This record gives sequence, C-alpha cells and structure tokens, in this order.
Amino acid sequence: MTRWPDGGRRLAFGGDYNPEQWDEAVWAEDLRLMQEAGVNLVTVGVFSWALLEPRPGTYEFAWLDRVLDGLAGAGIAVDLATATASPPAWLSRLHPEILPETVDGARMSFGARQAWCPSSSIYRDAATALAEQIAIRYADHPALAMWHVGNEYGCHVARCYCEISAEAFRGWLRRRYRDLDALNDAWGTSFWSQRYHEWDEISPPRRAPTFSNPTQRLDFRRFSSDELLDCYCAERDVLRRHSPDVPITTNFMVSRFDELDYWAWAREVDIVSNDHYLLASDPAPHVELALSADLTRGLAGGAPWLLMEHSPSAVNWQPRNVAKRPGEMRRNSLAHVARGSDGAMFFQWRAAQAGAEKYHSGMVPHAGTDTRVWREVVELGESLGRLSESAGSRVTAEVAMVFDWQARWAVDGDPMPARGLSTAHPTVDASYLGTVRGLYTPLWEAGITVDFVAPDADLSGYRLVLVPMLYLVEDAAIARLERFVEQGGTLLITYFSGIVDANDHIRLGGYPGAFRRLLGVRAEEFFPLRAGETVQLDDGTAGDIWTELLHPDGAEVIASYADGPLPGVPAITRHSFGSGAAWYMATSLDGPGLSLLLRRLVDEAGVSAVVEAPAGVEAVRRRSPDGTTHLFLINHNDADAKVAAKGTDLITGESAEGSVRVPARGVAVVEEVVEEKES
Ligand code: GLA
Repeated sequence: MTRWPDGGRRLAFGGDYNPEQWDEAVWAEDLRLMQEAGVNLVTVGVFSWALLEPRPGTYEFAWLDRVLDGLAGAGIAVDLATATASPPAWLSRLHPEILPETVDGARMSFGARQAWCPSSSIYRDAATALAEQIAIRYADHPALAMWHVGNEYGCHVARCYCEISAEAFRGWLRRRYRDLDALNDAWGTSFWSQRYHEWDEISPPRRAPTFSNPTQRLDFRRFSSDELLDCYCAERDVLRRHSPDVPITTNFMVSRFDELDYWAWAREVDIVSNDHYLLASDPAPHVELALSADLTRGLAGGAPWLLMEHSPSAVNWQPRNVAKRPGEMRRNSLAHVARGSDGAMFFQWRAAQAGAEKYHSGMVPHAGTDTRVWREVVELGESLGRLSESAGSRVTAEVAMVFDWQARWAVDGDPMPARGLSTAHPTVDASYLGTVRGLYTPLWEAGITVDFVAPDADLSGYRLVLVPMLYLVEDAAIARLERFVEQGGTLLITYFSGIVDANDHIRLGGYPGAFRRLLGVRAEEFFPLRAGETVQLDDGTAGDIWTELLHPDGAEVIASYADGPLPGVPAITRHSFGSGAAWYMATSLDGPGLSLLLRRLVDEAGVSAVVEAPAGVEAVRRRSPDGTTHLFLINHNDADAKVAAKGTDLITGESAEGSVRVPARGVAVVEEVVEEKES
C-alpha cells in the first residue's frame, strides 16, 4: 500500500536531521537554512534512544518537542523515527544477552550502533515500548508526516548466532517443517552423518570444520530476514494503533545489501524507501544507481517510492571516499526521481562535528554555506520544487528482469569454508549481482527501461523477460515463465539457473533441470573456466567464467564455442515455445557479446527505447494519471547533447520546440506536449 504524506503533491527534499548532536543555538540556523534550500521533509530521531530514554522507563521528550515544534513552525514535515536502531548503554548493561553473537561465538560490545540480537525479546519489548511512547506523544503533532521504523534493518547485524537466536531458529524450523523427518529430508542430512534425532540438536550454522550444510545456511538466512521483519512489524503495529492514517516506512538498501528478502519486506511498508550510495570503485556507478532505483520501484510494485538517503558528496566508509564532482549530486538525485522516487533525501542535513561519521558529507558542510555543496543543495531544492507536478507519476517498462534474494543466497557459496578450500559450488566466479548487472548494462546503454519483478510475478504486461542466474527456483515460478513464453513473450535465461529446488536440492535429469522443457536443451556437465580464461564463440563474441556440455533438445543453436574446453558445443540457443521464444545463454558473455545478444532480443521482442538519445544520455519517462509526461534526460558526458523533445524544460523554464539541449554533465526534464489525438 502506498500512502504519501501531504497527499503526494510535491517531491520530498531533505535528509536525516540530528539536532541532538548540536547546541540548541544551531537549531534556529538549521530552520532558516532549510527554508532557504526548500527542504520540506526531514528524518528526525533515528539514533536518539539514549537521549529519549536515559534510564529504563524514564522518557525525556522536551527537547524533541522543541525540535518538532520548530519544524512545524517552519512548515517542514517530519519523518519521525522510532529511535530504536541503536539501544542505549544501559540496556545492554542490564541485559548483556541482547548483544549479538558472531558466527564464531564472540559477543559483540556496546560502543558502535545496532548492537542487538534480532531474536531478543528484551530488545523487542524495550523497542516497542519506546515506539509506543513516541507514538502517543507525537501521533497528532502537526509536523508528523511519516513514521520511520528502525534504520537499515540488518545493516551491521543481520544474523545473530547466540543461544537465544538458536532457540528462535528451532521454533521457526518447527513451524516450517512440522516434523524432524521433513527437516532431515529438506536438509539432506543423510550426508556426512548430519541426521538430527532431537530438535535441540539443531543450531545456527556456526563455524564448523569445513563446508556447513547449505540448506541449513539457506534456512538460517530466511529465518534471519524473517526475525528482523518481525521486529519491524512489532513496532509498525504499535504505530498503526495510535495513528492509523500516518504512513509507515523503514529504509531499505536494495542493491548492495543482500541479507533481507525485500519482496517480503515490501509487503509490510506503506511506502517503499531506499538508501543508495555510490561506490568509488565502480567504473560506472550511475548505472548501478539506475539499477538500484529500478529495483526499488519493482519492490514498490511500480508505485512511487522514496530515496530516503544518499550523500551530498563523499561518504566516510569506503577505503577512499571520493567527493562528488560538481553537478554529480543533481544527476544522482534526479536519476532516482526519474526512476520513480517522489523525492531526494540525504544523509545527512549537517555534517557531524564528532563521531565515526564526521567525514561524511552533509547538506550543510563543515565549512558552512559559502561552499559549492551548499550552493548545489539550494539549486537542487529549486529544481525539485519546479518538478512537483511529476509527484505521483509512474514509470512503465516493456522489459522485466527477475530478481530474487533466495536465489542470490543459494548462489553464494559457504563464506567460511575450511583452510585451503574455496567453494562447494562449481566456481567462485559465478556472481548473482554481476550477472544481473551484465544484462542490465546494455539495456541502460540503449535507453530501455527495465522493471524488476519477483520470480512468481505476473509477466503478462511485458514483451521481454530476463532471468539472470535464477539458480534456485520454485515450481510456481517455472509455470509463470513457461506461460509467458507460450503466450508470445521473449525470454532469456542465463547459465546456473533452474539448478535447484527450494531446498537447494539438484533438479535431476540434466541441467538446467527446471528449464529444460522451456529452453529445449540439456546439459550433462559443467565446464567452468580457470581464472582469467576466456572462450571465443563462433559469432565473434567471447565468454568467461562458465561453459557447459550442452545438447540442443528442440532448440536452435545461435552460437557455439570456437575454442576452450568445448569447441563446437552450443553456447547460445533459442527455442520456439508456444507462440514465443526462450533463449539460453550458457556462458558469461563479455560486454560486446551481451550487447549483441540483448540487441537481438530487443529487436525480436519489439521493445523500444524511451527516446533516441546519444550514448551516455540517460532517458526515462514518468507518466501521470492525467496523461502528462515528464521526460528526464541525464547527460553523463562532457559535451552538451541534443535530444528530440517537445514541451518545456522545467529545469531551465525554456520551451523545447522539437529538441532540447541537455548540458554537459547536466539534466533536462521536459514536461512534454501531448499531441492531440484525432477523434
Ligand atoms: C546508512 C545509515 C546512515 C549513515 C549512512 C552513511 O545509510 O542509514 O545512518 O550511517 O549510512 O553513509
């Protein structure tokens, strides 16, 4: 469900606001500067538990009253946190058992943040009690626009291996399997003498002499995601009781963080919100940004979502924290908006003077307002104000990519095998996210919008569906994909897909077991490649990481290996199935190979680009229910670009009579003129 504060009439602009880190004298200046920048929403109180409840059951809200009253007076709405992301020192001093345990059985200490065990009832009770006090006090406060539960659940502690967690894990397993025989079957415990005869014999997958049971590990990840989700839901339900009309969210980290099954989480929030940070080591971080934004939109079911955090400039947690170049923040912010975010929020409002994040940029830098960051913040606020008409509009796509956290977890080998061993899988190089990114990049380059969908999603609205490394797949998803192709769709499945069922057991009879019928192929053996080894294909492209001894079984061979371990064996196949076609990519194609393959698929499926734009100019369109469209054009090149468009560029206010100029490293957003249809 999506319920927006303020009826969704404008794009949100602001960030995490931590006034508790500053003297009250600074607060008045904050309000003035927020107004100057056009800030309309701030997230307050995320890490303020220790101040709000300095002693057990004693609450001190006076300072927060003053903060919220000030914001309300300044016309700035608040995304109010439940403050439960980081418990105070007294809680773990009174109850050391709330501190999480690592896979090696080491107890973590207080002194950073998020030091709590997701299964601790002491933590949950204390957190929901605080959430309730906050809800009672502020449910009717005029500044309150939205609730912000916790913060980046699982960011630091996604799994806890303590005895309390072990007990909760056993409870979860009892509910899932009902009896031990079912669990033993699912976990394949006849292997290595792992059979369980009592529930109490079962533990989390703590450090073991060598590879631990893969289904045990997979179930522990499922359990851990569910435990954190329960924590979120417990607080959410309290808030809902006290303020049924105020939307509730918690901030995700969809693209890099892989500990939560966000499809399950997305069902429980009113507004999907996401945090995104560029990685300096990424050669094309703007493409990763687009992927993250599209994935977030997928979680929101296509509805508007909110970029809850990104950085005005550098962060503080990478090996080398690269500052954003002039204009980069605007491009980043508007790229998220282009892809469905109804706003651009930052971490954080004022750069901190103390603490572990003091080198993280803020909207108000250490150096103050006579700075280029501040000037860019003010300019961005102005631009977002001019784009308010686009709030609530949607992005549509003809291409869908299947994304699945369960498959991603199952692909990951054992992260802690014994000395001298590296993986229990065919190769360490098969990367889930790498495969997703590989397929996404040529589409980004071609200006083709991609929706991300769950494996069992309804695919009927799409022309082309891509299935990267769906290693683990359930029967319902297989049926969905088959129906999509039968009814005329074009589908691509990559290598290492359809290999195992939900219990991580091999689907027998030849690979890829789940998709043999659909793809019209059968592989008898995997032939992974050595580090750095490549294979040539007979169409002039190349692959690496993976090959397999593949036999067509109804499929047409599009390309075969010209060398490597399997010369003459098919690498790319196409199978007519019903009125559509299912393609198989049995190797990891290089960039040019992926571009060629995707071009073929796009042509065959009749998919079109948003608009014809020069390479490096990103184009996305948002459409409002009344038919108004906004064409977002983001120029990642050093030269100005010209793109065909008719309407008004809302950034400059200039009209575009047939074409619009997108400045070098800049952005244009054209409110398009809709051609009158002849009646
Ligand atoms: C995350 C957290 C914030 C802050 C930023 C720093 O997104 O939610 O509290 O630590 O990282 O980049």
